[in-house]
Amino acid sequence: MAAKGDLMAWIARKGFVWGPSPELYGGLAGFYDYAPLGKLLKNRVEAVIQETFVKHEFWEVECPIITPEQVWQASGHLSGFTDPLIKDEQGNVYRADHLVKERLGKEAVELDGKTVSLEAATPEQLIAVIQAEGITSPRGKKLIPEIKQHSLMLGTTVGLGQEAYNRPETATTTYLPFTRYLSFFRDKLPFGVFQVGKAFRNEVSPRQHILRQREFTQAEAQLFLFEDQKQPYEPFRDVKDDRAAFLPAGGEQQDMTFGEAHKRGHFTSEAYGWVIRLAYTLFKNMGIPADKMRLRQHAEDEKAFYADDAWDVEVELQSFGWYEICGVHDRTTYDLGQHAKHAKQRLVARNEATGKKEVPHVLEIAFGTDRPVFSLMDIFYKYDEQKEQDTFVIPAMMAPIQAAVFPLVNKEDLPDIARQIYEDVADAGLVATYDRSGSVGRRYARMDEVGTPYCITVDFDTKKDGTVTVRERDSTKQVRVKKEDVVAFIKDAMSGKQKI
Ligand code: GLY
Repeated sequence: MAAKGDLMAWIARKGFVWGPSPELYGGLAGFYDYAPLGKLLKNRVEAVIQETFVKHEFWEVECPIITPEQVWQASGHLSGFTDPLIKDEQGNVYRADHLVKERLGKEAVELDGKTVSLEAATPEQLIAVIQAEGITSPRGKKLIPEIKQHSLMLGTTVGLGQEAYNRPETATTTYLPFTRYLSFFRDKLPFGVFQVGKAFRNEVSPRQHILRQREFTQAEAQLFLFEDQKQPYEPFRDVKDDRAAFLPAGGEQQDMTFGEAHKRGHFTSEAYGWVIRLAYTLFKNMGIPADKMRLRQHAEDEKAFYADDAWDVEVELQSFGWYEICGVHDRTTYDLGQHAKHAKQRLVARNEATGKKEVPHVLEIAFGTDRPVFSLMDIFYKYDEQKEQDTFVIPAMMAPIQAAVFPLVNKEDLPDIARQIYEDVADAGLVATYDRSGSVGRRYARMDEVGTPYCITVDFDTKKDGTVTVRERDSTKQVRVKKEDVVAFIKDAMSGKQKI
């Protein structure tokens, strides 16, 4: 029997995520199966992403996962996308920055009077910290003061041995059809494009469940615009009064509006502020509470090689504290410039305002869809001490199963009536389940454990007056609703129009 309140045990036992996969053969670290309820939850997360991007006039594309080597030479990933590794005297290998972070229990250290983020530290800086602090391996062994850069690129071959790579990000593959976008968007900038799909990172020792995988799903949106369109940026007017918690590099966390953050110089342009706010909105739309989210700016030495400025959306997890779930990058002309040079093509567009052909800038929202899935499970999983059971108090709109239908007992024609209601609910596009086994109390408990917000029970009164019971998960309140109105009632309850 798993310990009470054990999130990871609940995730596997209730059919959200299994792994490392394939469990049958002992599992390969960094690979997971989405089980039926986890897959439903991931679908909901991805539906919010698609709806939110489309509403903000981004167009979806799908590009290949496998990409020739030249692309990654041009993008800089082949040389720059690495992790620092260190060995102990027994030959065990560790990711040096993570090891130092874990041993010291902090994200940054003071070196020569400067604060250095451990993820961004150079090999020399990491060795200096290891030696100054006397850090050993987790097995207590001496670390050999030598760091090797390990490429995160997961290679493959195509055909008779052409070198290729599984993409480490969708972003680069989104940039490649740039000249096609120009004709599709009739040479008008700004335009936005996004992609949801698999990406691969050959981490040495992936941990933290689906938060850090070798194969994962990314969702990345790219806004192409000319430099002079970044400021002023008209759509920023509509969002400047929205609020969030901001943690600027080297500053204190403060609640403020996007307008105030821009006035204080926390982001360089209104367009970048608008994109950061769009990223924040995505996670708000998934139901992540505002008091569990903040925006954190990267320090100068922490930014990815392609980013001129970088802000993360972070969420506060029960399991791991504040955790990055999304990066928003001002990639300027970096990518189009690199691909123009390597492909020997002009990747420019005509700026009507200046009358010149210019290389557009790119503002990017980058994240893996697995991280918000984990965040929702982590934030909304609770162990109810009174009921002595697991509960999942996820917002109704995001629940994997939206409604369960039960006959109170398996007598007379109650199962047939319940089955018909199940079909009506399913026909209306809701994910429903029909359950006729066990006591009704046990059936409610099973649904509370996986976050189903509404249970519909058919009883003997249904036969008399045509009503059914709708029970709400968190309040456990029950109301009677005419059976022909039950679908509309649940849809209204889910959208907040109808209170139970
Ligand atoms: N496209 C940026 C990233 O993968 O983080």
